[in-house]
Amino acid sequence: MDIKTKLLASAEKVENFLSHLLTTDDKDIISLYASMRYSTMAGGKRIRPFLTLSVAEMLGARAQDAVYFAAAVEMVHTYSLIHDDLPSMDNDTLRRGKPTNHVVYGEATATLAGDALLTGAFELICAAPLPDKAKLEAVRTLSEAAGAEGMVGGQIMDLAAEEKEISLETLLKTHSLKTGAMITASVRLGMLAAGVTDEETLHALTAYARYLGLAFQIVDDVLDAVGDEQTLGKPIGSDSEQGKTTFLHFFTPEEAMQYAERLTESAKAAIAPFAGNETLTDLADYLLARRA
Ligand code: IPE
Ligand code: IPE
Ligand code: MG
Ligand code: MG
Ligand code: MG
Repeated sequence: MDIKTKLLASAEKVENFLSHLLTTDDKDIISLYASMRYSTMAGGKRIRPFLTLSVAEMLGARAQDAVYFAAAVEMVHTYSLIHDDLPSMDNDTLRRGKPTNHVVYGEATATLAGDALLTGAFELICAAPLPDKAKLEAVRTLSEAAGAEGMVGGQIMDLAAEEKEISLETLLKTHSLKTGAMITASVRLGMLAAGVTDEETLHALTAYARYLGLAFQIVDDVLDAVGDEQTLGKPIGSDSEQGKTTFLHFFTPEEAMQYAERLTESAKAAIAPFAGNETLTDLADYLLARRA
């Protein structure tokens, strides 16, 4: 199976799972669910759950168990996108090829839909048919990655970099927090679903995720400048409009892509010793060449 087919199959699994989860019979909260479903079921590449499921599979876990962790990661990610697009943040009106959540449901509901997706993710981890020890570790891992020392911390640094000069070092830290932390958590949750906790595997897979995560955000910055809005499903030029310092403040798009290429090679090298690493290796190449 090629990587595109694998991504589609994995996305379908995660989407089915999320679609069953995000339903209610309670009329009083149905608008909240509509808003949660709207962004969650809007497509998206499903890269983070793919990482969780691929690592889990490589290490011998059952997909029907790991999908709880994978779906939880996607819920946190979707919440982060809803909030990222708010007028007070990046002020974007297109996401996953559709009007952003607040454009359709209003800012208050969009904020609450994000809140409910975030908290719901941890509820989901607790419901997984996996050992309590793995679930506790998964809650710790995901909450750390999503929180002040992870994605949210990265988002505040990202906002602070609007209309202000920052160093490349600060930008690298911002990227590693706002994007890298959740990608690293996705990989670690795959390990936890498989019950694998040894230091050597953790070290190698963390290195893979860090290189991959940075390359991913560099490509995101490049696509914001030179991508195609239709293909990307989100606005082009949003970063420069917001006066954000991105990779393109320091490098030309070509140089930035060369940087991402080197990181991709390092990511692949980090997992070279693992049997069954083809999916993760192919994913790294696929993400480097992506246009969406
Ligand atoms: C967008 O993430 C936000 C970043 C961290 C760059 P994705 O590019 O994975 O967005 P979706 O999930 O495919 O919509
Ligand atoms: C977003 O970074 C990272 C998140 C934590 C959501 P961006 O602001 O660059 O993501 P896009 O380009 O809007 O998807
Ligand atoms: Mg942003
Ligand atoms: Mg944004
Ligand atoms: Mg971006």
